[in-house]
Amino acid sequence: MIIIKQTKALKNYIIHSRSTGATIGFVPTMGALHNGHLELIRRSKANSGLTVCSIFVNPTQFNDPKDFEKYPITIENDIDLLEQQGCDVLFLPDVAAIYPQGMQHLPHYELGFLETILEGKYRPGHFQGVCQVVHRLLNAVQPDHLYMGQKDYQQCMVIKKLIELEKLPVAMIVVPTVRETDGLAMSSRNMRLSAAERKKAVQISATLQFIKREIKPGELETLRQRCQHYLTAEGFRPDYVAIADADTLHAVDDWDGKQQLVALIAAYLNEVRLIDNMLLQ
Ligand code: PAF
Repeated sequence: MIIIKQTKALKNYIIHSRSTGATIGFVPTMGALHNGHLELIRRSKANSGLTVCSIFVNPTQFNDPKDFEKYPITIENDIDLLEQQGCDVLFLPDVAAIYPQGMQHLPHYELGFLETILEGKYRPGHFQGVCQVVHRLLNAVQPDHLYMGQKDYQQCMVIKKLIELEKLPVAMIVVPTVRETDGLAMSSRNMRLSAAERKKAVQISATLQFIKREIKPGELETLRQRCQHYLTAEGFRPDYVAIADADTLHAVDDWDGKQQLVALIAAYLNEVRLIDNMLLQ
């Protein structure tokens, strides 16, 4: 695997690979890699001539400075894991390589409703930061395919919107969430859980499974509130438990039994904020 730190060098390498006819698959990450990321690499490897992974902990998407400071960095292990998967290129820029003009006066993306709800509501500015970095990374890598995990359901919708807004010539592939054997969605933030918190964290996916089992056409507020109260009683601080239209993320209070739905949860377990979601049909 080649490690490239400068955008110009990456662009040159990509131009050369393209000239040999290779299609390019791209997996953007913030490192602290786990099997969920590696599944994205495997999917890209299966479909592309060249797989590029980026590791960059993007400061502009952290609305909570403590979360940024505590974000796990495991770069040596990440490099080993990427090499084992046969990743071709690791793009490992620093802040100056991504934001050469600094982090003030960055472009604003018109994300509309998507930015006002759920993660957008509880993490103000987060999706602007995600768009700022992903737009730059896509311009640098110019991939044919972009691989994103369904675990960040709303982020996938935001990136889809970014691709439309900027008319970027890339196809996004959303890969289903990879879970631990007890159902916990894999996440870099899981590394920050104590043993006791790790055991408890499974209640989030268990609650999503409960919604999937119990949901019936008609009003949904009783079920939604019951789940929110349950998580609170179990010691979580939920930001939200939501049941929404799977395509628009508009909340659904009265279900006709046909509309495609997704259930989404974000909840703190002490200091660590966990998110997960599940398609309900
Ligand atoms: O999902 C992530 O890890 C990040 O939000 C991303 C897409 C790499 C942008 O920094």
